[in-house]
Amino acid sequence: MKIDVDRHGGNTEKEARKSGLSIEKIIDASASIVPFKLPIKLTNHLIKSIKNESIKFYPDRSYYELRNSISKWHNIEPSMILPGNGASELFTWAARDAGLNGISSLPSPGFGDYERALKCWNAPYIYNRLPLSWDHKRPQEFPIKPKTNVLWITNPHNPTGQLWSRSSIESLLTNYKLVICDEAFISIAPGGEHQSIIDLTKTYKNLIVIRSLTKFLGIAGLRVGYVVTNSDRLLKWEEIRDPWPLNTLAINATKMIMKDSKMHKKRLNKIHKWVEQEGKWLYQSLSGFSTIKPLPSTTNFQLIKSESSILNLLENLKKRGILLRDCRSFINLDENWFRISLLKREQNIQIINTLKDYIN
Ligand SMILES: Cc1ncc(COP(=O)(O)O)c(C=O)c1O
Repeated sequence: MKIDVDRHGGNTEKEARKSGLSIEKIIDASASIVPFKLPIKLTNHLIKSIKNESIKFYPDRSYYELRNSISKWHNIEPSMILPGNGASELFTWAARDAGLNGISSLPSPGFGDYERALKCWNAPYIYNRLPLSWDHKRPQEFPIKPKTNVLWITNPHNPTGQLWSRSSIESLLTNYKLVICDEAFISIAPGGEHQSIIDLTKTYKNLIVIRSLTKFLGIAGLRVGYVVTNSDRLLKWEEIRDPWPLNTLAINATKMIMKDSKMHKKRLNKIHKWVEQEGKWLYQSLSGFSTIKPLPSTTNFQLIKSESSILNLLENLKKRGILLRDCRSFINLDENWFRISLLKREQNIQIINTLKDYIN
């Protein structure tokens, strides 16, 4: 049977069209976005931004205020920060520098967008296999030391959910001309921030750290991320990137969340509690099946290995409005692997109960 291999999860519109179900009926556990509503203060702030007609004007191209608010949150000077149209836009610029520095190493299986970004610049890269079994220890040592000029790291790793230790990454920094570390999920993983290397950008000029607001705020549609690296590099990127990659609503939302540290911390606490509770529940529930094996995860998604192909299973679930992540688009994973993102308990129960109709 042939099914499309999507490079990303979260294709709810497309799947609703195919299955004939309304989009509200779809349970999407294929994209790893926090399932909570936006904080009400943030929603109101966005409505206010529309009402006061701030979208009538071009956004501030220097992102002066936005950089200042991110700067205060991380205690890093504003000239070392550049906001972008989601982390994905910033991967494209990081990939430009990767290409200028030589061959990139992509730990695999890993997030496919780095490859897309490298292809934009015809930048050379190789895949480096990550071991496909690990224990519950958190954080874990980053397990490979590829012999390339540039190293891409995802912390916590997608799709495995492993959190790499700061010390194991720091020890690698002098071995590479450039290290690009994607911390899109780090604030979601309980204890994740302790392993962040964002502050090491002050010491290591060859380090680029990229963050996203997509996941923890649940604003994939607004498109906000930022990069932290040395300011000379950012000046070069600014010279050649699009004039207005971020829209005013995205800028205003980010400024607000970064300035309102009480709301920001409240959100993170809620997320950490949810990841702890639901992560444990999902892991235990999946362990109850004899034909699949969940692997330990520190964050809001769970990688699972099946004894046999899961393609029919995924198609059957889709027909019933449940989207799980087919992992075939990840290098080194095949049709026996899938990933489930954490949702609220009610939906997690629905996923497990539906799985029981198909597997033992
Ligand atoms: C590891 C990782 N980094 C970054 C992104 C994309 O982030 P953004 O929405 O900010 O472009 C994703 C999306 O799935 C991801 O899995």
